[in-house]
Amino acid sequence: MRLSRLKERLQHGADVCQITQQRIVELENVPDDRKRLRQFPTTEAASLLGVSESYLRQITKDGAEFTCGTVAGNNYRRTFSLKELHWVLAGLHEKTGDERYRRRRNDGEKLQVLAVANFKGGAAKTTTAVHLGQYLALRGYRVLLVDLDSQASLTSLFGLQPDTDVGPEETLYPVFRGEASDLKGCIRTTYWPRLDLVPANLSLGQAEFEMPVRAQREKNFAFWLVLREAIENSAEGYDVVVLDCPPSLGFMSINAIFAATGIIVPVPPSMIDFASTGQFFRMCSQVLDQVEEIDPNGKDIDFFKILIAKHSVTDQNQKQIIHLMAANFGDMLLQNPMAVTTALDAAGLRKRTYYEIDDQVGTRQSYLRGLSFLNAVNAEIEGVMLKTWGRQDTSRAANTAAGV
Ligand SMILES: Nc1ncnc2c1ncn2[C@@H]1O[C@H](COP(=O)(O)OP(=O)(O)O)[C@@H](O)[C@H]1O
Ligand SMILES: [Mg+2]
Repeated sequence: MRLSRLKERLQHGADVCQITQQRIVELENVPDDRKRLRQFPTTEAASLLGVSESYLRQITKDGAEFTCGTVAGNNYRRTFSLKELHWVLAGLHEKTGDERYRRRRNDGEKLQVLAVANFKGGAAKTTTAVHLGQYLALRGYRVLLVDLDSQASLTSLFGLQPDTDVGPEETLYPVFRGEASDLKGCIRTTYWPRLDLVPANLSLGQAEFEMPVRAQREKNFAFWLVLREAIENSAEGYDVVVLDCPPSLGFMSINAIFAATGIIVPVPPSMIDFASTGQFFRMCSQVLDQVEEIDPNGKDIDFFKILIAKHSVTDQNQKQIIHLMAANFGDMLLQNPMAVTTALDAAGLRKRTYYEIDDQVGTRQSYLRGLSFLNAVNAEIEGVMLKTWGRQDTSRAANTAAGV
């Protein structure tokens, strides 16, 4: 094929992809052309707050202390918006003074920067990052999700089209070029209360090319600290930053590791993923060597946790790999795996997350099963996070108490 013809066909292909993507986003965004967050039924709301269902009913019914929610259907079930849940949470904390309801960090508690990383594409990095971010926002933390991947799948899950809705200056690009020293210019609010997003697009690929040039040209340019400093300059108002890393070792990934206080590595239990994860560990250890050398006292990584992702319970081969992982990684391995869930995959195709769908996809039972896997993983990570703040892990107790 002549090159000019190939170029034409590729251009056409690119247009088709863009138009299709646009169509999916448009369909998801009707009726008012904006993604909106669903209501939360009492069971789920109680679990997120960490109270029993009957207590939540009692305090939110008409005329009660925290009257809120919308009564729907003829059986008088109450559903809540996330804003209402955050309001009840703050009220409960004020009333009881109970630590369990304080989902904010104190002055002495440092900002958590959690990098979700692995070189392998399709390892469930974006899936893990977005659901962790949304779970923490549901629980009441103030969360910033940062898309470091030029492919921008995290960005498009928020109903944004990376190539038309996001300009290069609205991503981390200016930060990596040295034109901005904080994230103010690229943080945007989302339709999720307490969840902000730094979107990505192809310009981050451009930044990968430009960084080595900068590193050569500018003396004393600490190319590995760019993101860490920008996050430090924008930390106020957030409890957790979640970084969704690209599937490659480049400046973005190195910056993410230098910025992180915790690293989470999703690994699907297959031989191929396992082998490439080994390479990733080797690379991480080399980067950490450099961290130590450059910054012997300044930098700590509080935790490094491996998450078994896309676990298929009935797969015998997976069982063996999981045994191997358990035997070798010890407490680096999170106890709760994330199971393969068809509803999650289907939601992703519609640019939604598991927390945004209700039980319309598949059966109610399979939806709840998926949700319990997801919540168990996220609650465990929340527990690890609380520990680094020196707090008691109340997350898991709250989740089991409410039956989720
Ligand atoms: N637990 C799961 N169950 C079903 N599908 C999953 C699960 N986790 C991830 N996926 C799917 O796998 C694909 C790759 O996941 P993604 O998070 O985009 O990986 P990465 O960011 O590492 O490239 C996506 O289509 C996603 O929907
Ligand atoms: Mg990804």
